[in-house]
Amino acid sequence: MRNYLIAGNWKMNKTPSEAAALAKEILPLVKDADYRVMVAPSFVCIPAVASVLKGSNVIVAAQNMAGTESGAFTGETSVLMLKDLGVEMVILGHSERRHIYGETNEQINEKVKLALSHGLSPVLCIGELLEEREAGKAESVCFEQLEKGLVGVSESDMDRVIIAYEPVWAIGTGKTATPEDADAIHAACRKKIASLYSSSVAEKVVIQYGGSMNPSNVKTLMAMENIDGGLIGGASLKADSFAELANFN
Ligand code: G3P
Repeated sequence: MRNYLIAGNWKMNKTPSEAAALAKEILPLVKDADYRVMVAPSFVCIPAVASVLKGSNVIVAAQNMAGTESGAFTGETSVLMLKDLGVEMVILGHSERRHIYGETNEQINEKVKLALSHGLSPVLCIGELLEEREAGKAESVCFEQLEKGLVGVSESDMDRVIIAYEPVWAIGTGKTATPEDADAIHAACRKKIASLYSSSVAEKVVIQYGGSMNPSNVKTLMAMENIDGGLIGGASLKADSFAELANFN
């Protein structure tokens, strides 16, 4: 069985004290979760959240990072800084980074390789726009993001890579992909990974779904064969709904 992961992407929400308070609320509610649980606060909230969650079963992640270790990059945050704070995972290539800030597949790939070289687990986000889905291009768009995002990533590195399929049209809209549609893309991506690496890598890799996942649909989504977890935005910002997601089974 794959090593499921239920993750909260808090995006640009919560002040450091609010984030620490949310982490404190979540902790007792997810301490007996059967699967891995992760939260990704904003950069400025990571120290406070990491100190609350230190030694717990909840993994602390970042929502992005710079593509180089240090230097004259005003406003950026280095993988070295994240590691020093105890961050273990980093979300890369989120559709908001791609479509609002223009991050390219190549830039995202550099970040994936840099995260891996420093022992972090990258959560590589892929997903199509509504017009791409309506044009029948959902699979090809995801394949391109997958292939280009994984350039130079070795078979052994893939043990630490997590993929998150987030149809852009389902993010923050309440319009969740049907479990069947989501599973079809997950299955196709798993097959693509098998062709890029091997069937054993494809079988083990965790492919999360993201896009309006919430307590009312988590069970049907997680019942699908190729869905190994969730990358959740809105429903992760409240302790009780995130706890329901983390304890979905
Ligand atoms: O990264 C997860 C996020 O994009 C999904 O957001 O609010 O649709 O759960 P939401």
